[in-house]
Amino acid sequence: MSDQLKKNKILEEKHLSAELGGGKQRIERQHAAGRKTARERIQDLLDPNTFVEIDKFVTHTATDFDMDKNKILGDGVVAGYGRIDGRIIYVFAQDFTVFGGSLSRANANKITKIMDLAMKMGAPVIGLNDSGGARIQEGVESLAGYADIFYRNVRSSGVIPQISAILGPCAGGAVYSPAITDFILMVKETSYMFVTGPDVIKTVTNEEVTKEELGGAMTHNKKSGVAHFTADDDAQAMMMLRELISFLPSNNMEDPPRKVCTDEVNRKIPKLDTIVPDDPNKPYDMKEIILAVIDDGHFLEVQPHYAPNILIGFARICGRPIGIVANQPAVLAGVLDINSSTKAARFVRFCDAFNIPLITFEDVPGFLPGTAQEFGGIIKHGAKLLYAFAEATVPKITLITRKAYGGAYDVMSSKHIGADYNFAYPTAEIAVMGPAGAVNIIYRNKIESDEHRDKIVQEYRDNFASPYKAAELGYIDEIIYPHNTRIKLAQALEMTENKSDINPPKKHGNIPL
Ligand code: HXC
Repeated sequence: MSDQLKKNKILEEKHLSAELGGGKQRIERQHAAGRKTARERIQDLLDPNTFVEIDKFVTHTATDFDMDKNKILGDGVVAGYGRIDGRIIYVFAQDFTVFGGSLSRANANKITKIMDLAMKMGAPVIGLNDSGGARIQEGVESLAGYADIFYRNVRSSGVIPQISAILGPCAGGAVYSPAITDFILMVKETSYMFVTGPDVIKTVTNEEVTKEELGGAMTHNKKSGVAHFTADDDAQAMMMLRELISFLPSNNMEDPPRKVCTDEVNRKIPKLDTIVPDDPNKPYDMKEIILAVIDDGHFLEVQPHYAPNILIGFARICGRPIGIVANQPAVLAGVLDINSSTKAARFVRFCDAFNIPLITFEDVPGFLPGTAQEFGGIIKHGAKLLYAFAEATVPKITLITRKAYGGAYDVMSSKHIGADYNFAYPTAEIAVMGPAGAVNIIYRNKIESDEHRDKIVQEYRDNFASPYKAAELGYIDEIIYPHNTRIKLAQALEMTENKSDINPPKKHGNIPL
């Protein structure tokens, strides 16, 4: 064998060794736990044969605890780039089979190298997390590695999309990198996230809680609002990440990618003419309107389990990606509260950062009254949504289907805070408050009987709880037949396509956090 072939053989052996990670037994253990390996996940995530691995032969440099005798090529993270739908994506996948995927100095350097490349090249980063946290043998060097990652997460925020999948443990300070990224996806039953685990909690507060209850996928998708998506298993998780990426531009200087539209743009939707119930207190499902008007009824809902009184998510109209924010009258009458305000505010800011036009569907009776909301800071949390809509410079289109009362009218992308085109259905009720409340105040000492009250409530409803006053003032640009909703939204999107608007120069605003 020639020297060159011998050297090729050595290289091949190194490749095989790196690809085996922590070895067959640990791979089997990973599979038995219902989890795929880092490399299998990357295979599922990227277009076939597009993954290029970087730093495959990196090893750690630790010597304490006899670590110099225990080195594994790659050191617990597989990193590189590849393509999704043909577009370049940077990816790192923690390899739990190698030192539990724990973060060493060398391992952190691999991740930050990927993040730096992604920033320079203007491409998204996807992190597949499955790690026991800081490499205990490396102490403060590992903490430094985390901070290096956090720092890059923050600097990349709003420049390139950053997405995290949690596919195993993610605990302690390690949670803060995913927390800063734009979206977190968790897999049911195999992933968990918490700052302090059940044992520490038991010691400090005497509470007993399982890992799943404390930080499982449904906990963070439903209760805490930390996560945005749930998948049943690793394979589904990778498909969902691919779908999410399909709506996003590669960076903040690009427009999101358009698809060829096969859904008729001028489609009339007769069922929308009867979707809003005659009884103003009766709920209906706003999602029905959304699904009817978007291309092919294809809606990628974000945080479907958290604060379901507001709906957020991605869709397309005429093949063009849009971000949707919609009050959901079917849940809590679509009221705005702390959780729904913060949920929608972050989404609005994401869409604005990445040039995704916003369409707002509005049916909101106001902000939720109560001490829990006031003590919890609804003033500052509600202000976040107002702030987010007002600072957003992407095309903003609003459709009021029914209620638009009080401050919530202003907040939900009203003309006054910069919306470009505002529609209303003939069923819209735009006023300071609902008829019953208004009459109680205006006619406080003048109501003679129940019949009298009913009469003046009806009069108020006829005269003020309609879209016509707002249309007279130019606050609503067009009152539309509901069956024309898709056509009208498509027209408005086309009209706003070349919108150019910038906020005054500043270091950054001071959103009420
Ligand atoms: C080094 C680690 C490790 C770690 C796991 N391993 N965590 N090695 N540093 N942090 C190794 C184990 O020794 C084991 O090696 C292999 O990974 C698999 O771990 P197991 O315990 O066998 O797996 P499992 O039973 O599935 O339990 C997983 C686990 C547990 C729950 C994650 O390993 C665990 O509790 N690890 C420690 C978690 C921790 O306290 N991390 C530090 C948190 S503080 P072998 O060779 O046997 O296969 C932190 C601070 C970050 O992260 C701060 C940022 C600011």
